[in-house]
Amino acid sequence: MNILITGGCGYIGSHCAVVAIKAGWHPIILDDLSNSGEFVIERIHEITGVRPTFIRGDVRDATTLKEVFSSWEIDAVLHFAAHKAVGESVEVPLSYYHNNVGGTLTVLEAMKEYGVKTFVFSSSATVYGEPKEVPIQEHSPRNPTSPYARTKVIIEDILADLTEAEPDWRIARLRYFNPVGAHESGLIGEDPRDTPNNLMPYIAQVAVGQQERLSVFGGDYPTRDGTCLRDYIHVMDLAEGHLAALDHLRGNEGLLTVNLGTGTNSSVLEVIGAFQKASGQDIPYEIVGRRPGDVSAYWADASLAKQLLGWRAKRNLAAMCADTWRWQAANPSGFRKPTEARQHRLGLDSHSQT
Ligand code: NAD
Ligand code: UD1
Repeated sequence: MNILITGGCGYIGSHCAVVAIKAGWHPIILDDLSNSGEFVIERIHEITGVRPTFIRGDVRDATTLKEVFSSWEIDAVLHFAAHKAVGESVEVPLSYYHNNVGGTLTVLEAMKEYGVKTFVFSSSATVYGEPKEVPIQEHSPRNPTSPYARTKVIIEDILADLTEAEPDWRIARLRYFNPVGAHESGLIGEDPRDTPNNLMPYIAQVAVGQQERLSVFGGDYPTRDGTCLRDYIHVMDLAEGHLAALDHLRGNEGLLTVNLGTGTNSSVLEVIGAFQKASGQDIPYEIVGRRPGDVSAYWADASLAKQLLGWRAKRNLAAMCADTWRWQAANPSGFRKPTEARQHRLGLDSHSQT
């Protein structure tokens, strides 16, 4: 069974490729490497013993997609390729609409032409905006507050229209909460190109000495310790959720919409504490002003995924921090620098530690 994974060299796509290989799929990864590197393919090979097929190309390029669909018999598509930085999307909205919405349309049109009708889409909890109620259920109103979030809502609507017009499509809209962590080997993980915007990669860079201290955005929220609450989900649990969705689609036509979260929440200070414990490193931080646009608390109602997919997140915050640390400590500069010297110095063996 061949699965096309767009954006498969990226953070979530690479972990999904590993899980898909373990489940017996052969991944064909299409990525333009705009936010990743080809070395990820080697690492996936090292972890699984299988080398995914890799094509460097842009999902907006219909000719490339035709080549892919005419060269391989594709059974399903996992569509990760997108731009994902909320702040950047405010500055360059056209680029976000073009890449995220335009790219998805090109992929769907190629699928239609070649009769491939199973599609899993990376949506996001960001579609809900400031929630009226927590935990957030799938039928909660969507209220996107950035161009990035609006690209996700527009694509969700395109997918709904498509299944309405052609009910034999099998489409999953998976709304991720806050993906963190790394594969337990420490060989793949999140590798931000610039200074990280998100909490966990920033903490990891402080722990490894790449950043001096963490700014905690806001200590006066109406929460148990004054910092924001989020539903952090281990990227391997998330990846397994994709496989569960694919299984579901095998037996069901139409549109599936589910939250992928743990159903629990952690505050910023709790994440810092858990990371210090997992890594044995001090994480210097200071509480500063709120970050514009941040919502005080949101987490998933994860019961629908359990009911429909038989899937639930299994890894806790301690595992998320331990796996992030193993990846970051072994790869202090991400995929770009040799790791062995650093690994040796830290006394870490990325293959044997769990
Ligand atoms: P990522 O940037 O690590 O991975 C995306 C990959 O897509 C990269 O390898 C990039 O090079 C590639 N890409 C981008 N545009 C492309 C194009 N036009 N053609 C081909 N390849 C292209 O991001 P990620 O964190 O792995 O996110 C994957 C998906 O999940 C995205 O759709 C993102 O919006 C969504 N998502 C991510 C998060 C998160 O916190 N990481 C949360 C919710 C939803
Ligand atoms: C953000 C995006 C969301 C995306 C998600 C990916 C926004 C508004 N939302 O969510 O669309 O899906 O990332 O995981 O940007 N924090 C600090 N210091 C930091 C960084 C973060 O205190 O240096 C705090 C934030 O204020 C927030 C929490 O940590 O309370 C989590 O932040 P982050 O990891 O950026 O995720 P979200 O903002 O929830």
